[in-house]
Amino acid sequence: MGFFITFTIIAAIILLFSSKTFSPIPYFPSQPVDLPKIIRALNLKNNQTVVDLGAGDGIIIFEAAKKAYQNKLNTQFVAVEINPILILILHLRRVFHPNKRNIIIVLDDMFKMDLNPLTRQPVNSLTVYLYISPWHLEKTLKNIRRQISKFSVVSYMYPVKSLKNKERIIRGKNSIYIYK
Ligand SMILES: C[S@@+](CC[C@H](N)C(=O)[O-])C[C@H]1O[C@@H](n2cnc3c(N)ncnc32)[C@H](O)[C@@H]1O
Repeated sequence: MGFFITFTIIAAIILLFSSKTFSPIPYFPSQPVDLPKIIRALNLKNNQTVVDLGAGDGIIIFEAAKKAYQNKLNTQFVAVEINPILILILHLRRVFHPNKRNIIIVLDDMFKMDLNPLTRQPVNSLTVYLYISPWHLEKTLKNIRRQISKFSVVSYMYPVKSLKNKERIIRGKNSIYIYK
């Protein structure tokens, strides 16, 4: 019986991380060594909302929220994830975070979700962090553009072709592409 339960749990976890439905983009965290450069690229400020679409275990959101807390900024952070196991981890990590009142965890699909209710007003100070494959970048940005006209993008490792004329790059272990 014990073996059966353990097997079922392991099989469920493998399914959640390998299934195209639950994880259309595989889970790879941003490189910890690049964290300071990524935080710099996010350009944290008051009345800004930072959304990590496909937040993984929250490495970016929690580190950025710590920085905002230390600098006494009211920046709001939103971690959007589709994988229920990662959502559970995000909620657990949030409970122990000093800046938890400014962190929101959302279970949703970045390709379809409604971003407006998540963003602090005015919406023009929205920064979106993305670490997703190039062929998913444009699809995700198309969904955001349908809803919000002005926003900044920080893309880890992959440049955004449609924003090439606004591109600024910070070189790290992987490049960080900034579009304002
Ligand atoms: C490459 S990881 C990046 C994780 C995190 N942003 C970081 O930089 O460490 C991509 C994440 O996107 C999530 N994901 C994949 N498809 C998604 C979707 N349609 N909506 C929301 N999250 C998704 C995966 O579960 C995975 O955690």
